[in-house]
Amino acid sequence: MRPDDAAEIMAGWPDPDSPLWTPELRWLLDRSTALVHADLGGHDWLSPGPALPRDRGPAWRHLYVYAYLALVDVVREYHRAHGIPDAVSWVTLADLGRNLAIDRRMHREGWPIMQSWLTLHTRGGLYELGRLQYQRGDTTLGLHVPEAGPMTPEAVAASLDEARAFFPRHFPDEHYRTFSCGSWLLDPQLREYLPEDSNILRFQRRFELEPYEEPEGMNADVEVLRFVFRTLTTPLDQPSCRTVLQRAVVDHLRAGRHWHWRRGRFPISTPAGADRTDGLEIGAALNTWPTGN
Ligand SMILES: CC(C)(COP(=O)(O)OP(=O)(O)OC[C@H]1O[C@@H](n2cnc3c(N)ncnc32)[C@H](O)[C@@H]1OP(=O)(O)O)[C@@H](O)C(=O)NCCC(=O)NCCS
Repeated sequence: MRPDDAAEIMAGWPDPDSPLWTPELRWLLDRSTALVHADLGGHDWLSPGPALPRDRGPAWRHLYVYAYLALVDVVREYHRAHGIPDAVSWVTLADLGRNLAIDRRMHREGWPIMQSWLTLHTRGGLYELGRLQYQRGDTTLGLHVPEAGPMTPEAVAASLDEARAFFPRHFPDEHYRTFSCGSWLLDPQLREYLPEDSNILRFQRRFELEPYEEPEGMNADVEVLRFVFRTLTTPLDQPSCRTVLQRAVVDHLRAGRHWHWRRGRFPISTPAGADRTDGLEIGAALNTWPTGN
């Protein structure tokens, strides 16, 4: 966690005598902590409570962070019961600090989604294994890509291999057949702008896309701004594009076109040698995946 975020959180700590914590805020903290705790082991998105006016001070701003921190021991116990190594446990939970840092860069615009997202980690529903994060599901493992530098095909392949071994070992009652992903990263329109050997296009080529459907309650243009400019407000007047992707986003929107949020999947267990991207063969571990239930 960034030192300034850590200092802010320590300063607002909900000590019993802290004047920052009104009875109402303490009530909400208790309810939110109990609500997330009650779904321990769950892996769907969960709202921990209402969006709060975060400019009213550290208790308001970080109320849900205090709920997650109160649940660290609980989720660590859940991880231990599943034999999950400490290193995976801590790197997974460290996404809290990553999100707080991104939210700070976003001038606090990013938090409303993050407050639900982070309940996945806190309930044992999501694990970071190398380059990718994996959200448990029914028969599908959802892939998420944290902001952690370039996602090279080698790092993605190594992470997928890790997941192929991790889930049968730690969740033997769950039988996963596919990896899936819903993201702006899977929009085929990106092919018009990015070089063929870009990491994003190489990632796209792993997936079979589901037919496009307008997502309910989500504006993909805004989501692209979130992940490419770390703002939710338009960058169209900003001449400060640093990368080919940023220029592409601006050109696309300026042309009156829209970005799409796309969902795709690919089988976890592919016939040996079939899981190739750009000549990169992922051989090992494919035959170890359990094929049925
Ligand atoms: C996913 C991610 C790691 C891909 O980055 P990458 O590995 O560098 O991707 P590519 O190799 O395809 O990049 C091609 C070009 O786009 C740029 N680019 C890629 N992602 C970018 C981003 N999020 N913001 C700005 N520019 C980006 C690269 O710098 C490169 O441009 P350049 O040649 O001018 O430097 C990166 O987009 C990222 O960190 N995103 C935030 C997390 C996210 O979007 N997760 C998915 C949520 S649904």
